[in-house]
Amino acid sequence: MSNAETMLDRANAAAFSKADEVRNSAYALKYHIAAPSGWINDPNGLVRFGDRYHVFYQHYPYAPEWGPMHWGHVSSADLAHWRHEPVALAPDMPYEKGCFSGSGVADGDALALIYTAHDDDNPIKETQCVARSFDGGRSFVKSPLNPVIPCYPEGCTSDFRDPKVWKQDGRWQMVVGTSHDGRGCAALYTGEDLDHWTYRGLLCESDGTLGSMWECPNFCRVDDQDLLIISPMEMPGHKNIVLFGNFDCAAGRMSIDHWQELDLGEDFYAAQVLYDGDRTLLIGWMDMWGKPYPTQKDGWAGALTIPRELHVRNGRLLQVPAPELKALRTGKRIDSGDAKSLESLTGDCLELNLGMAKGTFILSDPEGELLRVSLSDGRATLTLPNGRVASAPVAPDCETPGLRVFVDRCSVECFVNGGEVCFSQRIYPKDNALIYRVDSEAKVDAWSLGDAFEAPVC
Ligand code: FRU
Repeated sequence: MSNAETMLDRANAAAFSKADEVRNSAYALKYHIAAPSGWINDPNGLVRFGDRYHVFYQHYPYAPEWGPMHWGHVSSADLAHWRHEPVALAPDMPYEKGCFSGSGVADGDALALIYTAHDDDNPIKETQCVARSFDGGRSFVKSPLNPVIPCYPEGCTSDFRDPKVWKQDGRWQMVVGTSHDGRGCAALYTGEDLDHWTYRGLLCESDGTLGSMWECPNFCRVDDQDLLIISPMEMPGHKNIVLFGNFDCAAGRMSIDHWQELDLGEDFYAAQVLYDGDRTLLIGWMDMWGKPYPTQKDGWAGALTIPRELHVRNGRLLQVPAPELKALRTGKRIDSGDAKSLESLTGDCLELNLGMAKGTFILSDPEGELLRVSLSDGRATLTLPNGRVASAPVAPDCETPGLRVFVDRCSVECFVNGGEVCFSQRIYPKDNALIYRVDSEAKVDAWSLGDAFEAPVC
């Protein structure tokens, strides 16, 4: 590395130099956010700034595996088509060995990122930091006041990360995930500006059943309902849940009424929300810790889900694919009342709409079944060839029951009954050959979906 070359220069060279190879590899996703090359995990810094949406992500540009964390970056004018941007953050300060997850806000003229500086060699381990861009997100400058929160709250542990910031009652509010007496919790801070924070106390905490540490807490209010989305560690059988409750901003506390799993597929974690002025959107990491990542051999691993619009109905969260995704449709493939029409469908970048109150959708490759999703007896159920079965009840009163399915080469996202139940699942079909089938009557619509990315230039 020459003197003038920075960690960011090196990171960009690493991420973008292999971009063509990755793009041409068999499973490269066409319309989901993934890195030009290398590793990604959590979505970070979701923000609408000016006339563009910005999505950042946990990124290791040097290899398709987790390593010292950087922040990768993409942006979009329409939420459907994306452009790769230069790597936004590298761990280049004495107080950090990794730039962990966090959030993004519009702070006057600046696009500001609030993130966790991680350093395993420091007993404090995790502190909260700020970086700002004054050129629309092309480059970021870290605050001279970093770390702006230099230590975890008394009584909590050094697992203290993933700040999510929003504005309420005229002040910045921040939740940070941590642990107290072995129970997951979210610490609440408030600030007049992003460099100065006051600890308010624990926003809420596990009652002993909701995990030992809360990663990636996200507060939002959807359809007059306060929600706290968390990724609890050590909550057996559950990965990413949403708590329904009531946030008393003056008191700094949120009650917990009930909770719901966000997505019952194997590949969904660390979801983050974005309020864009009109609605709340959600994007998750479409993978999970500790799973095989077969695309590593092609130089990449990890992707984000499509953006989903959030709604609350009868105490349940609905996730609906953002309507903007219709802009990806390149051609109608099926428009039929006959479910059999699905059996002649080919292709692996598709959107399907299966209008049915009851039945099973089966996705296979030439070697066998990859997954099945069934809708019957008031339940939606995902069954995988590894024997895993995940199931949740659906309300009986859905006006347009059925499945919306987004297939993108090595991923499937399935939204049941208007998004009441969601399944995100990675699949690795042999020779990219997919076979589609429904075992009941269904009204079938299918579209081919096109490439969402401009060719990466950096
Ligand atoms: C969640 C997480 C976060 C952390 C990041 C590190 O997947 O463990 O808590 O900030 O990933 O990459």
